[in-house]
Amino acid sequence: MPDQTETLKQVVASQSLEIILVASGKGGVGKSVIATNLAVSLARNQKNVLLFDADAGFANADILLGVTTKNTLRDYLISDMELKDVIYPTRYGVWLLSSGTDVQDLIAFRKEPKSRFIDDFMHMALDMNYAIVDTGAGYTEELLSFYSAADKLFLVTTPEPTALMNVYTLAKVLSSNGIFPELYLIMNQSRNTSKDIKVLDRFSYVIEKFAGWKVQERFILRSDKTVSNSVIKQVPLIELYQHSQPAQTIARLTDQVLKDELEEKNDDGGFLTKIKKLFGIK
Ligand SMILES: Nc1ncnc2c1ncn2[C@@H]1O[C@H](COP(=O)(O)OP(=O)(O)OP(=O)(O)O)[C@@H](O)[C@H]1O
Ligand SMILES: [Mg+2]
Repeated sequence: MPDQTETLKQVVASQSLEIILVASGKGGVGKSVIATNLAVSLARNQKNVLLFDADAGFANADILLGVTTKNTLRDYLISDMELKDVIYPTRYGVWLLSSGTDVQDLIAFRKEPKSRFIDDFMHMALDMNYAIVDTGAGYTEELLSFYSAADKLFLVTTPEPTALMNVYTLAKVLSSNGIFPELYLIMNQSRNTSKDIKVLDRFSYVIEKFAGWKVQERFILRSDKTVSNSVIKQVPLIELYQHSQPAQTIARLTDQVLKDELEEKNDDGGFLTKIKKLFGIK
C-alpha cells in the first residue's frame, strides 16, 4: 500500500475529482431527486461517483437509492471507524456517504486535527471522478465552504415565486461573499413549459444583472408522476422511466457535465485546496 505522502502526490497529480453542488433556496424543490439521478446517470457512463448527502436534517438519498446506510460521516469522525466503513456501495455503481450531522456540527470537528480525515478522504477520492453534494435548502454561513469548493453549482427551483425569490436571495448572499460559481439553473416541477421557459429566461437575466453571476445553461424538468412513483418505489427515475421528460432532462444534464469534462481547463488551485475548501479547512 502506498504511504500517505505517495497517495497525496498521486491525488494532487491526478486532480480528477469534480465537485458538483446541488442546492436550492427553498426546500422540497427536487434537489435530492436530481442529485441522486445525476449520480446514477454519471455512474452509467463509467464514472466513479460519490454522492455526499450533506442534508443532515432530512438526509434521504439512501431512501431514493433503496439502500440502508447504518453509519455516517459523523460516526467516522467520533470513532476510530475507517472512512470506507461509512461509504456504501449501491447497485447503481454510486458510492453513498451521508453526513449524519449538520454542517454546524462539522465545524466542531474542524477544530480537531484533521489529518486523518483529509488523508482518508483524499485516498478515497483518488478513485472518484465526481462528488455530487446534495445540500439542505437555503443558506447558512457554514455552507459557504461547500459553495466555494464546488466546480459546478446546480441551483434548483420551481416556478413558484417563493422558490425563485429564495434562489435570488441565495445568489445575492453568495455573490456578496465573493462566490461566482459555474452556474446551471434547473427549474423543476414545471406544469407549463412554454410559460416557464420565459420565466426562467427572465430569472436568468435578473440573476446575471443583480447577482453578477453568469448562467451557463438552463434546464426545465416537468412535473411528472413518474418522479413520485420512482420515489415511492425507491428506484432512481432514470432506471424506471428513462423515457419520461424529467429522466431525459437528467440525461441532458449528464451530457453537459461530461462535455465540460472533456473541455476541462486547468484546475484553479489544485485538488488538495478543493478538498480542504469543501470541509472549510484553511
Ligand atoms: N419533477 C417532478 N415531478 C413530480 N414530483 C416531483 C418532481 N420533482 C420532485 N418531486 C416530488 O417532490 C418531492 C421532493 O423532492 P426532493 O426530496 O428531491 O426535494 P429536496 O429539494 O431534496 O427537498 P429537501 O429540501 O427537503 O431536501 C419528491 O419526493 C417527489 O415526490
Ligand atoms: Mg433533499
